[in-house]
Amino acid sequence: MEENIEKCVLLYSGGLDTSCMLKWIREKYRCSLVTLTLDLGQKTKDFREIERKSRMLGSVKHYTVDAKEGFVKNYVSWAIKANALYQGKYPLSSSIARPLIAEWGVKIAEREGADAIAHGCSGKGNDQVRFNITIKALNPEIKVIAPVVEWNMSRTQEIKYAEERGIPIPVDISSPYSIDENLWGRSIECGVLEDPYAEPPSEIYAWTVDPESAPEKAGVVEVSFSEGVPCAVNGEEMDQVSLISKLNELAGKHGVGRIDHMEDRIVGLKSREVYECPAATVLIEAHRDLEKYVSTRHQNMFKEVVDREWAYLAYTGLWIDPLMDNLKVFIESINRKVNGSVKVKLYKGNCMVVGRKSDFALYDLNLATYNENSDFDQKLSKGFIELWGLQSRMAKLIEKESLKQ
Ligand code: ARG
Repeated sequence: MEENIEKCVLLYSGGLDTSCMLKWIREKYRCSLVTLTLDLGQKTKDFREIERKSRMLGSVKHYTVDAKEGFVKNYVSWAIKANALYQGKYPLSSSIARPLIAEWGVKIAEREGADAIAHGCSGKGNDQVRFNITIKALNPEIKVIAPVVEWNMSRTQEIKYAEERGIPIPVDISSPYSIDENLWGRSIECGVLEDPYAEPPSEIYAWTVDPESAPEKAGVVEVSFSEGVPCAVNGEEMDQVSLISKLNELAGKHGVGRIDHMEDRIVGLKSREVYECPAATVLIEAHRDLEKYVSTRHQNMFKEVVDREWAYLAYTGLWIDPLMDNLKVFIESINRKVNGSVKVKLYKGNCMVVGRKSDFALYDLNLATYNENSDFDQKLSKGFIELWGLQSRMAKLIEKESLKQ
């Protein structure tokens, strides 16, 4: 039985898929449509043009929401404090934007009295999972529809569908790539990238120069942190949106932030994913270094476990799970002392920490120095080693004895 929908909020990007969706939903459900586009710092979007297109295609209302600040404050800051890299590689740039887009979708649906939210995700990806879980958690009454999964059209059929209905075909329609971007990064999928052995062609990159043609002279940038949150670049204080944009520029110029890996999707597929995340690469590298400098060895070891779990929940769409809140309490408490500055060198695709300073450092030059007047009493090490290795040595001896028998 067909679901009955009166009014639908469409998460609208202005691209071909979501434009076809606008017409398709109207034709199928005979409902009114409100479109919503979030400004998350995408460089290539013309938001006025998106609004114009939406109205031209028959929406009753369009919302453009500048969500950059909320994104940075409630999502990106956490990713930095959690040194978040899914499978050790991916800074979760697309993943952490989804719960925020879903939140706005619900807000607008409630304001407009809409009973459904539509998104443009396929049935193979992660985004459908993330949208659905957050929307349903915030408002279980709202129906979630995924036209791409239902309509089952090939690209050629979709173009034909668009032509027949006067939907403008984007100029880059021949581009085989699926691209998603926001302040925290740019992701590129499909086309030749589906062959895991094929090197990504240079045409896919937009934020980073080829490391081979990056400047011969290294760039050095100092990033300062206050309670784990970046607050200044080269001593100049700035809001986080500006800071991240600036680092995207600076690091991108040196070819820093290109990522190519095989990713395990939520639905079980392995997929080849390519990203450009210059600012994220620099900030996570710098943050992790500073955090390690001010925390104890035990905190550092446990933080790695917590960070990995945080990234896993964020990736798999479980932002709303109570465990996320539990982890955040720990992450927050560690980050209270992550204050100081880190010097990072950018050179031909590499990003290397070359210096750090903090009033909270657990480093003591008097202890660590190899100069003769160190406060560290080296004689104590003898007894320490004896006890530290006690059980391990004992086990080894017993193992040897048992082999003899
Ligand atoms: N694989 C990434 C993720 O799941 C990126 C997905 C981005 N979507 C896209 N249409 N390129 O978070």
